[in-house]
Amino acid sequence: MKGKILVTARSFRNLEGEHQDLLRQAGYKLVFSPYDRPLQPGELMELVGDVVAVIAGLDSFTREVFEHAPQLRVVSRFGVGVDNVDLAAATEHGVVVTITPGANAVAVAELTLLLMLALSRHLILHDRWVRAREWKRASGMELIGSTLGIVGLGRIGREVASRARAFGMRIVFTDPAPPPEDQIRALEAVALPLEELLSVSDVVSLHLPLTDETYHMIGARELALMKPGAFLINTARGGLVDEQALYEALKERRLAGAAFDVFEKEPPDESLLFQLDNFIATPHIGSATVQTTRRMGIMAAQNALTVLRGQRPEGIVNPEVFARL
Ligand code: DGY
Repeated sequence: MKGKILVTARSFRNLEGEHQDLLRQAGYKLVFSPYDRPLQPGELMELVGDVVAVIAGLDSFTREVFEHAPQLRVVSRFGVGVDNVDLAAATEHGVVVTITPGANAVAVAELTLLLMLALSRHLILHDRWVRAREWKRASGMELIGSTLGIVGLGRIGREVASRARAFGMRIVFTDPAPPPEDQIRALEAVALPLEELLSVSDVVSLHLPLTDETYHMIGARELALMKPGAFLINTARGGLVDEQALYEALKERRLAGAAFDVFEKEPPDESLLFQLDNFIATPHIGSATVQTTRRMGIMAAQNALTVLRGQRPEGIVNPEVFARL
Protein backbone atom coordinates (compact mmCIF):
# COMPACT_ATOMS: atom_id res chain seq x y z
CA MET A 1 0.00 0.00 0.00
CA LYS A 2 1.49 3.31 -1.12
CA GLY A 3 -0.66 5.46 1.15
CA LYS A 4 -4.19 6.44 2.08
CA ILE A 5 -6.52 8.57 0.00
CA LEU A 6 -9.49 10.14 1.78
CA VAL A 7 -12.70 10.46 -0.25
CA THR A 8 -15.17 13.07 1.00
CA ALA A 9 -17.03 13.61 -2.30
CA ARG A 10 -20.27 11.70 -1.80
CA SER A 11 -21.07 10.83 -5.43
CA PHE A 12 -17.49 9.56 -5.93
CA ARG A 13 -18.05 7.24 -2.96
CA ASN A 14 -21.60 6.14 -3.75
CA LEU A 15 -21.00 5.08 -7.35
CA GLU A 16 -18.43 2.33 -7.67
CA GLY A 17 -16.42 1.97 -10.85
CA GLU A 18 -13.32 2.90 -12.77
CA HIS A 19 -12.79 6.17 -10.87
CA GLN A 20 -12.32 4.23 -7.63
CA ASP A 21 -10.46 1.31 -9.29
CA LEU A 22 -7.84 3.67 -10.75
CA LEU A 23 -6.75 4.70 -7.25
CA ARG A 24 -6.78 1.19 -5.81
CA GLN A 25 -4.92 -0.28 -8.79
CA ALA A 26 -2.24 2.39 -8.34
CA GLY A 27 -1.68 0.95 -4.85
CA TYR A 28 -3.62 3.36 -2.62
CA LYS A 29 -6.14 2.52 0.09
CA LEU A 30 -9.41 4.45 -0.08
CA VAL A 31 -10.87 5.78 3.15
CA PHE A 32 -14.40 7.18 2.95
CA SER A 33 -15.85 10.05 4.93
CA PRO A 34 -18.46 8.80 7.40
CA TYR A 35 -20.57 11.92 6.83
CA ASP A 36 -23.24 12.42 4.18
CA ARG A 37 -22.53 16.14 3.87
CA PRO A 38 -19.56 18.50 3.45
CA LEU A 39 -17.15 18.24 6.40
CA GLN A 40 -16.38 21.02 8.85
CA PRO A 41 -12.69 21.82 9.50
CA GLY A 42 -12.65 19.92 12.84
CA GLU A 43 -14.08 16.81 11.19
CA LEU A 44 -11.58 17.01 8.35
CA MET A 45 -8.69 17.46 10.78
CA GLU A 46 -9.54 14.14 12.39
CA LEU A 47 -9.36 12.36 9.05
CA VAL A 48 -6.42 13.95 7.21
CA GLY A 49 -3.57 13.12 9.63
CA ASP A 50 -2.22 10.19 7.60
CA VAL A 51 -3.58 10.72 4.08
CA VAL A 52 -1.59 11.66 0.97
CA ALA A 53 -4.56 12.87 -1.08
CA VAL A 54 -8.19 13.87 -0.71
CA ILE A 55 -10.84 13.44 -3.40
CA ALA A 56 -12.77 16.39 -2.08
CA GLY A 57 -16.35 17.52 -2.08
CA LEU A 58 -17.38 20.91 -0.70
CA ASP A 59 -15.70 20.50 2.69
CA SER A 60 -14.01 23.46 4.39
CA PHE A 61 -10.29 23.18 3.75
CA THR A 62 -9.10 25.93 6.10
CA ARG A 63 -5.50 26.70 7.07
CA GLU A 64 -5.86 24.56 10.23
CA VAL A 65 -6.79 21.54 8.12
CA PHE A 66 -3.54 21.84 6.14
CA GLU A 67 -1.62 22.24 9.41
CA HIS A 68 -3.01 18.86 10.51
CA ALA A 69 -2.15 17.06 7.27
CA PRO A 70 1.65 16.51 7.22
CA GLN A 71 1.57 13.90 4.42
CA LEU A 72 -1.05 15.59 2.24
CA ARG A 73 0.15 16.33 -1.31
CA VAL A 74 -3.04 16.97 -3.24
CA VAL A 75 -6.61 18.14 -2.72
CA SER A 76 -8.31 16.91 -5.87
CA ARG A 77 -11.69 18.64 -6.08
CA PHE A 78 -14.45 16.50 -7.51
CA GLY A 79 -15.94 19.57 -9.22
CA VAL A 80 -14.91 23.01 -10.37
CA GLY A 81 -15.43 25.42 -7.46
CA VAL A 82 -12.60 26.13 -5.01
CA ASP A 83 -14.31 28.65 -2.73
CA ASN A 84 -14.16 26.00 0.02
CA VAL A 85 -10.34 25.72 -0.13
CA ASP A 86 -7.87 28.20 1.40
CA LEU A 87 -5.59 28.24 -1.64
CA ALA A 88 -2.87 30.38 -0.03
CA ALA A 89 -2.63 27.94 2.89
CA ALA A 90 -2.58 24.95 0.52
CA THR A 91 0.27 26.51 -1.45
CA GLU A 92 2.24 27.37 1.69
CA HIS A 93 1.93 23.75 2.82
CA GLY A 94 3.04 22.46 -0.58
CA VAL A 95 -0.37 20.96 -1.36
CA VAL A 96 -1.50 20.96 -4.99
CA VAL A 97 -5.19 21.82 -5.55
CA THR A 98 -6.89 20.54 -8.70
CA ILE A 99 -10.35 20.75 -10.29
CA THR A 100 -12.20 18.96 -13.11
CA PRO A 101 -12.89 21.75 -15.64
CA GLY A 102 -15.85 21.27 -17.94
CA ALA A 103 -16.74 17.83 -16.58
CA ASN A 104 -20.05 18.88 -15.05
CA ALA A 105 -21.13 21.59 -17.50
CA VAL A 106 -23.89 19.61 -19.24
CA ALA A 107 -25.28 18.14 -16.00
CA VAL A 108 -25.52 21.57 -14.36
CA ALA A 109 -27.02 23.07 -17.52
CA GLU A 110 -29.68 20.34 -17.72
CA LEU A 111 -30.58 20.91 -14.06
CA THR A 112 -30.86 24.65 -14.75
CA LEU A 113 -33.30 24.00 -17.60
CA LEU A 114 -35.26 21.61 -15.39
CA LEU A 115 -35.58 24.30 -12.70
CA MET A 116 -36.53 26.92 -15.31
CA LEU A 117 -39.35 24.75 -16.63
CA ALA A 118 -40.45 23.75 -13.13
CA LEU A 119 -40.67 27.41 -12.11
CA SER A 120 -42.37 28.61 -15.25
CA ARG A 121 -45.13 25.94 -15.01
CA HIS A 122 -45.37 25.80 -11.18
CA LEU A 123 -44.51 22.10 -11.32
CA ILE A 124 -43.94 21.50 -7.61
CA LEU A 125 -47.07 23.41 -6.59
CA HIS A 126 -49.21 21.45 -9.04
CA ASP A 127 -47.80 18.17 -7.77
CA ARG A 128 -48.63 19.17 -4.18
CA TRP A 129 -52.16 20.17 -5.17
CA VAL A 130 -52.91 16.90 -6.93
CA ARG A 131 -51.63 14.88 -3.94
CA ALA A 132 -53.85 17.02 -1.68
CA ARG A 133 -56.81 16.23 -3.97
CA GLU A 134 -56.97 19.84 -5.14
CA TRP A 135 -57.65 19.97 -8.86
CA LYS A 136 -56.42 23.55 -9.31
CA ARG A 137 -54.37 25.27 -12.03
CA ALA A 138 -51.89 28.13 -11.95
CA SER A 139 -51.14 29.82 -15.27
CA GLY A 140 -47.59 29.40 -16.44
CA MET A 141 -45.18 31.41 -18.57
CA GLU A 142 -43.96 30.11 -21.91
CA LEU A 143 -40.22 30.28 -22.37
CA ILE A 144 -40.49 30.97 -26.09
CA GLY A 145 -39.90 34.65 -26.80
CA SER A 146 -38.81 35.37 -23.22
CA THR A 147 -35.40 36.69 -22.21
CA LEU A 148 -32.83 34.71 -20.27
CA GLY A 149 -30.17 36.71 -18.44
CA ILE A 150 -27.05 34.63 -17.86
CA VAL A 151 -24.64 35.95 -15.27
CA GLY A 152 -21.36 34.26 -16.17
CA LEU A 153 -21.05 32.94 -19.73
CA GLY A 154 -18.41 30.30 -18.99
CA ARG A 155 -18.68 26.62 -19.89
CA ILE A 156 -21.85 26.04 -17.86
CA GLY A 157 -23.43 29.35 -18.86
CA ARG A 158 -22.89 28.55 -22.55
CA GLU A 159 -24.42 25.06 -22.21
CA VAL A 160 -27.45 26.70 -20.57
CA ALA A 161 -27.64 29.32 -23.33
CA SER A 162 -27.60 26.80 -26.19
CA ARG A 163 -30.40 24.77 -24.58
CA ALA A 164 -32.43 27.91 -23.88
CA ARG A 165 -32.02 28.91 -27.53
CA ALA A 166 -33.69 25.64 -28.48
CA PHE A 167 -36.67 26.79 -26.41
CA GLY A 168 -36.76 30.04 -28.39
CA MET A 169 -35.38 32.26 -25.62
CA ARG A 170 -33.39 35.42 -26.26
CA ILE A 171 -30.01 35.41 -24.48
CA VAL A 172 -28.43 38.37 -22.74
CA PHE A 173 -25.37 37.96 -20.55
CA THR A 174 -22.88 39.69 -18.36
CA ASP A 175 -19.33 38.46 -17.82
CA PRO A 176 -16.16 40.35 -16.93
CA ALA A 177 -14.16 37.79 -18.96
CA PRO A 178 -16.47 37.00 -21.90
CA PRO A 179 -15.84 34.02 -24.20
CA PRO A 180 -14.48 34.54 -27.75
CA GLU A 181 -16.68 36.54 -30.17
CA ASP A 182 -17.56 33.53 -32.35
CA GLN A 183 -19.03 31.67 -29.37
CA ILE A 184 -21.11 34.71 -28.39
CA ARG A 185 -22.30 35.08 -32.01
CA ALA A 186 -23.25 31.41 -32.24
CA LEU A 187 -25.59 31.90 -29.26
CA GLU A 188 -26.84 35.24 -30.61
CA ALA A 189 -26.14 36.47 -27.09
CA VAL A 190 -26.07 40.17 -26.24
CA ALA A 191 -23.67 41.54 -23.61
CA LEU A 192 -25.26 43.87 -21.06
CA PRO A 193 -24.14 45.45 -17.80
CA LEU A 194 -25.57 43.55 -14.81
CA GLU A 195 -28.13 46.22 -13.90
CA GLU A 196 -29.57 46.28 -17.40
CA LEU A 197 -29.58 42.49 -17.62
CA LEU A 198 -31.60 42.33 -14.40
CA SER A 199 -34.15 44.81 -15.67
CA VAL A 200 -34.82 43.10 -19.04
CA SER A 201 -34.66 39.39 -18.13
CA ASP A 202 -37.69 37.16 -17.51
CA VAL A 203 -35.35 34.55 -16.05
CA VAL A 204 -31.96 35.29 -14.46
CA SER A 205 -29.56 32.38 -14.03
CA LEU A 206 -26.27 32.56 -12.11
CA HIS A 207 -23.18 30.73 -13.39
CA LEU A 208 -20.12 32.21 -11.77
CA PRO A 209 -17.73 31.30 -8.97
CA LEU A 210 -18.01 32.57 -5.40
CA THR A 211 -15.21 35.01 -4.60
CA ASP A 212 -14.85 38.05 -2.33
CA GLU A 213 -16.09 40.14 -5.27
CA THR A 214 -19.16 38.02 -6.09
CA TYR A 215 -20.31 37.38 -2.48
CA HIS A 216 -23.95 38.63 -2.18
CA MET A 217 -23.72 40.20 -5.64
CA ILE A 218 -27.50 39.70 -5.83
CA GLY A 219 -28.86 41.57 -2.81
CA ALA A 220 -31.91 43.72 -2.07
CA ARG A 221 -30.83 46.41 -4.54
CA GLU A 222 -30.29 43.96 -7.42
CA LEU A 223 -33.50 42.05 -6.67
CA ALA A 224 -35.39 45.35 -6.80
CA LEU A 225 -33.93 45.98 -10.26
CA MET A 226 -35.30 42.69 -11.59
CA LYS A 227 -38.34 42.73 -13.84
CA PRO A 228 -41.55 42.28 -11.79
CA GLY A 229 -42.67 38.67 -12.13
CA ALA A 230 -39.23 37.37 -13.15
CA PHE A 231 -37.59 34.14 -11.96
CA LEU A 232 -34.15 33.67 -10.38
CA ILE A 233 -32.17 30.42 -10.65
CA ASN A 234 -28.98 29.63 -8.76
CA THR A 235 -27.12 26.43 -9.57
CA ALA A 236 -23.70 28.02 -8.90
CA ARG A 237 -22.96 28.95 -5.28
CA GLY A 238 -25.25 29.95 -2.42
CA GLY A 239 -23.16 32.90 -1.25
CA LEU A 240 -23.87 34.77 -4.49
CA VAL A 241 -27.35 35.73 -3.27
CA ASP A 242 -28.49 37.39 -0.05
CA GLU A 243 -31.06 34.79 1.02
CA GLN A 244 -32.88 37.12 3.43
CA ALA A 245 -33.37 39.73 0.68
CA LEU A 246 -34.57 36.99 -1.67
CA TYR A 247 -37.12 35.88 0.91
CA GLU A 248 -38.56 39.41 1.07
CA ALA A 249 -38.75 39.69 -2.73
CA LEU A 250 -40.47 36.31 -3.08
CA LYS A 251 -42.85 36.85 -0.19
CA GLU A 252 -44.02 40.14 -1.63
CA ARG A 253 -44.33 38.38 -5.03
CA ARG A 254 -42.12 41.02 -6.68
CA LEU A 255 -40.32 38.01 -8.10
CA ALA A 256 -42.58 35.22 -9.35
CA GLY A 257 -40.28 32.50 -8.14
CA ALA A 258 -36.77 31.25 -7.48
CA ALA A 259 -35.08 27.86 -7.64
CA PHE A 260 -31.84 27.13 -5.80
CA ASP A 261 -29.60 24.08 -5.91
CA VAL A 262 -27.04 25.77 -3.67
CA PHE A 263 -27.15 27.55 -0.33
CA GLU A 264 -24.88 29.83 1.63
CA LYS A 265 -24.65 27.09 4.27
CA GLU A 266 -24.93 23.46 3.16
CA PRO A 267 -26.91 21.67 4.36
CA PRO A 268 -28.95 24.81 5.06
CA ASP A 269 -30.37 25.63 8.47
CA GLU A 270 -34.11 26.10 8.79
CA SER A 271 -34.90 28.94 6.40
CA LEU A 272 -37.91 31.16 5.83
CA LEU A 273 -37.46 30.42 2.12
CA PHE A 274 -38.72 26.88 2.74
CA GLN A 275 -42.08 28.26 3.82
CA LEU A 276 -42.69 29.84 0.42
CA ASP A 277 -44.51 27.96 -2.32
CA ASN A 278 -42.74 30.01 -5.02
CA PHE A 279 -39.32 28.72 -3.96
CA ILE A 280 -37.90 25.41 -5.20
CA ALA A 281 -34.92 23.80 -3.47
CA THR A 282 -32.67 20.90 -4.46
CA PRO A 283 -29.69 19.60 -2.41
CA HIS A 284 -26.70 20.62 -4.62
CA ILE A 285 -27.36 17.95 -7.24
CA GLY A 286 -25.96 19.89 -10.24
CA SER A 287 -23.25 17.32 -10.97
CA ALA A 288 -25.07 14.29 -9.63
CA THR A 289 -25.65 12.22 -12.75
CA VAL A 290 -24.12 8.83 -13.47
CA GLN A 291 -22.28 10.14 -16.53
CA THR A 292 -20.86 13.21 -14.83
CA THR A 293 -19.90 11.30 -11.68
CA ARG A 294 -17.90 8.86 -13.85
CA ARG A 295 -16.31 11.59 -15.98
CA MET A 296 -15.53 13.86 -13.07
CA GLY A 297 -14.44 10.92 -10.91
CA ILE A 298 -11.93 9.71 -13.47
CA MET A 299 -10.54 13.24 -13.92
CA ALA A 300 -10.29 13.74 -10.15
CA ALA A 301 -8.58 10.36 -9.68
CA GLN A 302 -6.14 11.07 -12.53
CA ASN A 303 -5.36 14.53 -11.15
CA ALA A 304 -4.54 13.02 -7.74
CA LEU A 305 -2.40 10.23 -9.22
CA THR A 306 -0.51 12.66 -11.47
CA VAL A 307 0.48 14.74 -8.43
CA LEU A 308 1.39 11.63 -6.42
CA ARG A 309 3.68 10.60 -9.30
CA GLY A 310 5.41 13.96 -8.95
CA GLN A 311 4.00 15.38 -12.17
CA ARG A 312 1.97 18.48 -12.98
CA PRO A 313 -1.77 17.74 -13.42
CA GLU A 314 -4.00 19.38 -16.02
CA GLY A 315 -6.61 20.78 -13.64
CA ILE A 316 -4.16 22.59 -11.35
CA VAL A 317 -5.48 25.70 -9.59
CA ASN A 318 -2.36 26.80 -7.66
CA PRO A 319 0.55 26.26 -10.10
CA GLU A 320 2.75 28.49 -7.91
CA VAL A 321 2.94 25.54 -5.51
CA PHE A 322 5.49 23.92 -7.82
CA ALA A 323 7.96 26.68 -6.99
CA ARG A 324 7.84 25.38 -3.38
CA LEU A 325 8.03 21.65 -4.09
C1 DGY B 1 -18.57 22.01 -8.29
O1 DGY B 1 -18.21 21.65 -9.39
O2 DGY B 1 -17.86 22.69 -7.54
C2 DGY B 1 -19.92 21.57 -7.87
O3 DGY B 1 -20.53 22.48 -7.06
C3 DGY B 1 -19.91 20.20 -7.24
O4 DGY B 1 -18.97 20.05 -6.29
